[in-house]
Amino acid sequence: MRRRAPEYRRPVRRRFSFWIWALLMLFLILGSVLLVIQRNYHDEDHVEQPVLEINPGNDRVIHQNRNITEEIVSARSYARQLAEQMILAKAFVIIAKEHNNLHLAWELSSKIRSCQFLLSKAAMRDEPISLAEAEPIIKSLSLLIFKAQDAHYDIATTMMTMKNFIQSLEERANAATVQSTVFGQLVAESLPKYLQCVDIKLTADWLQNRSIAELAEDMRNSPRQVDNNLYHFCIFSDNLLAVSVVINSTVSNAEHPKQFVFHIVTNGVKYGAMQAWFLSNDFKGATIEIQNIEDFTWLNESYSPVVKQLRNADSRKYYFEGSYDTSTEPKFRNPKYISLLNHLRFYIPEIYPQLEKVVFLDDDVVVQKDLTPLFSLDLHGNINGAVETCLEAFHRYYKYLNFSNPLISTKFDPQACGWAFGMNVFDLIAWRKANVTARYHYWQEQNTDKSLWKLGTLPPGLLAFYGLTEPLDRRWHILGLGYDLNIDNRLIETAAVIHFNGNMKPWLKLSIGKYRPLWEQYLNQTHQYLQECATS
Ligand SMILES: *[C@@H]1O[C@H](CO)[C@@H](O)[C@H](O)[C@H]1NC(C)=O
Ligand SMILES: *[C@@H]1O[C@H](CO)[C@@H](O)[C@H](O)[C@H]1NC(C)=O
Ligand SMILES: *[C@@H]1O[C@H](CO)[C@@H](O)[C@H](O)[C@H]1NC(C)=O
Ligand SMILES: *[C@@H]1O[C@H](CO)[C@@H](O)[C@H](O)[C@H]1NC(C)=O
Ligand SMILES: *[C@@H]1O[C@H](CO)[C@@H](O)[C@H](O)[C@H]1NC(C)=O
Ligand SMILES: *[C@@H]1O[C@H](CO)[C@@H](O)[C@H](O)[C@H]1NC(C)=O
Ligand SMILES: *[C@@H]1O[C@H](CO)[C@@H](O)[C@H](O)[C@H]1NC(C)=O
Repeated sequence: MRRRAPEYRRPVRRRFSFWIWALLMLFLILGSVLLVIQRNYHDEDHVEQPVLEINPGNDRVIHQNRNITEEIVSARSYARQLAEQMILAKAFVIIAKEHNNLHLAWELSSKIRSCQFLLSKAAMRDEPISLAEAEPIIKSLSLLIFKAQDAHYDIATTMMTMKNFIQSLEERANAATVQSTVFGQLVAESLPKYLQCVDIKLTADWLQNRSIAELAEDMRNSPRQVDNNLYHFCIFSDNLLAVSVVINSTVSNAEHPKQFVFHIVTNGVKYGAMQAWFLSNDFKGATIEIQNIEDFTWLNESYSPVVKQLRNADSRKYYFEGSYDTSTEPKFRNPKYISLLNHLRFYIPEIYPQLEKVVFLDDDVVVQKDLTPLFSLDLHGNINGAVETCLEAFHRYYKYLNFSNPLISTKFDPQACGWAFGMNVFDLIAWRKANVTARYHYWQEQNTDKSLWKLGTLPPGLLAFYGLTEPLDRRWHILGLGYDLNIDNRLIETAAVIHFNGNMKPWLKLSIGKYRPLWEQYLNQTHQYLQECATS
């Protein structure tokens, strides 16, 4: 139902992630070289005196090395410009060869060689590279790089993003190790490039601007987050703009948005970007809490069967799949947390032990009405308020579960009506009392061999909430905007929540054109970062 089936997405991405990976390697190498050079440079400061006393001959060598180093790290030097261009050019050599553009590859290689020659010449002597020496090479190399960018536009944009990345890496050499992994993972994930670009800019803000972190710290213990007189919503996602649209659309259509509290859980890679975004934009006074799933130490293998299963699935993939596959997939990307975010919906009472009622929203919905009345609906003792999906389609239990298995067939009615995740009202008091999480764990354990259902969160949800689900009026939640071209317009107009379930997500190029404005209108299109990223 959701977009996160890694097995399914992998092939589409393979080719592209190879390039990202290759580029990432190149840039990381440059990054670490600079870092090492800088470190050595500082070390030399301390040892310089004794060396000078004992052996003046060595001193010369050190000074020579140091000068070219200084030059390379200085943003305005020609050596630095040459080195940067060389990295880009080398990446384009690989790309050009891959695309059989052999002439371009040859031209680039020969310029790289003259560039290397000039750099080593400069390293051997005491003077910096002069304008007269550098200019012809920089010019002709730039020309070739522009040519290569034109020919391979898509990859070029990624590379420019990477170039920005390396610059910020240098600016903050101390935090470089943190940054290289955080930025690396950002680049590795398969969101459209403009979303990645926004994430990268915001992550840089988060790392560089201490006042954002201080603001976040102030928010952390706000009593509003546990006040049961307010209206609480939870969203578990790693997609920043999607979450922004969910929250913005909810508050924009609410009569009293100040009484709304949004609880976001995201992964470590997106955490900083999310904080920076939600602290610097206006959401009509709503309270927004952001947590990092990697901080949930209680959600571990010994407690949760799904954590164990996801982990095993990852290691199986890692060990048994072809070497090509593992080498293209950046190792530090952590799919465990990405899939686990989807399963967090089964842990809501534990994540928010003080809350009594929440509305759960998927990150691919848009809210079009005030959701306050949801909180006063009578659930008739049930735990989960959801819209049913068996009205015209055949979404009954037998569609989702293996009824050949006696575990299922003796306990469930194959004709029971299915319902949808995406906009659910949960009574957390009743949930805790009925131990729904334990039920979910039980079924998850029975399905270790995947014989009851294949994947996703809906089948275990149907089992765990069996007999505990209150059907809501379907106008609360209209589904299918991510795959169904023929939804009745009136249904969409009158719906409180519209859901882009399916593969054609509104933030993708392949989204359904007539539905996309419904989502886009809740993004601040004039925001500086969105504009910069759309045109970069
Ligand atoms: C290193 O460069 C500086 C100027 O950048 C220069 O003054 C100094 O003499 C150089 N060091 C040596 C050992 O030549
Ligand atoms: C840092 O963040 C604060 C709060 O969002 C903002 O007011 C300030 O302008 C930022 N400073 C810089 C240098 O970006
Ligand atoms: C695993 O989670 C349980 C509770 O869910 C907790 O008691 C235990 O300390 C956790 N183990 C680790 C290693 O964090
Ligand atoms: C809920 O589950 C826990 C552990 O699975 C168990 O100790 C507890 O007795 C259960 N409570 C109820 C009311 O079933
Ligand atoms: C369904 O369950 C039966 C009985 O356990 C099993 O033999 C069969 O392989 C299962 N079907 C699938 C598709 O896993
Ligand atoms: C929220 O949506 C409104 C349109 O209803 C839009 O004008 C505004 O820019 C959006 N805010 C953000 C932060 O995206
Ligand atoms: C959109 O973002 C810009 C900042 O880039 C801000 O000045 C403007 O007020 C925002 N507009 C809305 C409607 O939120």
